[in-house]
Order: sequence, then C-alpha cells, then structure tokens
Amino acid sequence: MSNSRPIGVFDSGIGGLTVVRAMTRHLPHENITYFGDTARVPYGPKSSQVVRDYAAQDTDVLMRLNVKAIVIACNTVSAVALDVVQRRAKVPVIGVIIPGAEAAVLATSKKRVGIIGTIGTVNSNAYTNAIRQLDPGVQVFAQPCPLFVPLAEEGWIDHKATELVAREYLFPLTLQKIDTLILGCTHYPLLSDVIGRILHHDVTLIDSGEATARAVSLMLDQHDLSNPSRMKPNLQFYVSDVPYKFSEVGERFLGQKLGMVHRIAGFAA
Ligand code: DGL
Repeated sequence: MSNSRPIGVFDSGIGGLTVVRAMTRHLPHENITYFGDTARVPYGPKSSQVVRDYAAQDTDVLMRLNVKAIVIACNTVSAVALDVVQRRAKVPVIGVIIPGAEAAVLATSKKRVGIIGTIGTVNSNAYTNAIRQLDPGVQVFAQPCPLFVPLAEEGWIDHKATELVAREYLFPLTLQKIDTLILGCTHYPLLSDVIGRILHHDVTLIDSGEATARAVSLMLDQHDLSNPSRMKPNLQFYVSDVPYKFSEVGERFLGQKLGMVHRIAGFAA
C-alpha cells in the first residue's frame, strides 16, 4: 500500500475545510480527500445516535476512496462517534477533541478554560472529559453557540449581527474569568476576530483544527505513513448533495480555490 494515498478528512458539510486549510500548512506534501455530508448537515443539533450512524457511513465513503488515515474534522462527530469511526476504519483515525484539549491544557495558566461548540458537542462533555483526564485541576466552562454556524457560512464575519450574537453567547464565559477558549467547532475559526475582540484579547483562542493538523503529522510519523513525494499535493473534494455554492463558500473556509467538487449520490437527508 502506497504512502502517496490521500489522508481522508470528513465533516458534516463545509466547515471541515478549515481543518484541511490547517493541514495544508502543516502537511504541505500530503494528498487529501475531503468528504462533506452536505445532504445531511447540520450534525450539531442531531441526537448522538443519528450522528453515530452518519459517521459510520461517512467512514465507509472514505474507505472506498482508498485513504491511508482518517481525520474527523467535525467536532460533533469527534465528540460522540470517535469510537464508531475507529472500529470501522481499517486505517489510523484522529478526531479534533483530544488535540484541542491538549493545546488548551498547555495554554491555560489560570486553569480556567472555556469551550464553545455545537449543542451536540457541548452536551457530550467530550472536551470537558478530555481536559479533566489531562489535568483534573482545570475548571471547564462550556457554552453552545449554534448561530455561529450559519453566520460563518453567510460570510458575516465582521457584521454587527454577528457581534451582537457573539456578545450574548460569550457573556457567561467572561464572568468565569477564563484565560483560554477552545473554538470547538469547524466554523468558529472564521469568527476568531470578533470573538477575540469581545474577550478583550486577553484570552488565548485554541483552534482545534490547527492543533489536530499538528497531531496528524505525528500520527503519520508513528505509523510510517508520510508521503515521501515532494510534488504539489492533490486535493479532492466530495459532497453528498449537489455542490451548489460549495465551491464559493468553501473558498472562504479553505483559503484557496477548490477546483472540481464531485457528488456522491445515495445520501438521504
Ligand atoms: N462541523 C460541525 C462541528 O464542527 C458544525 C456544523 C454542524 O452542526 O454540522 O461540530
């Protein structure tokens, strides 16, 4: 089996492209195949059983595309279905929760960490549990911010509506005197300016995708799976709904043009 096979990345939709963006910086020679389940997005408000079923199907898609490792870019899936993907995939798997938790534990000096994410991610307590395992002395404060997802997709990065929503969501966290905040959702790195401003820039923002990209590099080394080629890598994009607007919106998340986007049929909403 060749190490030039792509790393498979999957997400509920478009947001996982922020993780791909971080991966292209940290792993500039790796081929990447991305699958976004755009027919069934969002996963954040759905029950964990439904998300676990979807995660199993998403894993099968990537395995059929002959990937050498799987990155679960979606925080909601990483929070409730990491075990499902690990059992199903025949290749190494990494989610975004543990790398994000590790980065937060390293960053906090006051041992007061905030987490923002979807309702599914927050209700799962996955970040809280991961942080407590690493350092039981850290206090964790979680806040779901579901409206951040459509605002980021709409491109309302610097819009007064986003500022208003962000103030409302983040207010309880400011009362807790956190010094570190995990952006526990694929979309939130796009809103890091407004979030940082509201928290007066004295809170360290942890981008789980960024932390995960660094962890993927280690995982490839451990499994002897790094691509020896120094050619420009190939990025392939697959979605489960017609790719209407995926390229346009995706460009903002990925930070570069996507090129061709392929549809995989057979996913019922
Ligand atoms: N990708 C999801 C996450 O990181 C956000 C979008 C959704 O709710 O599906 O949790």
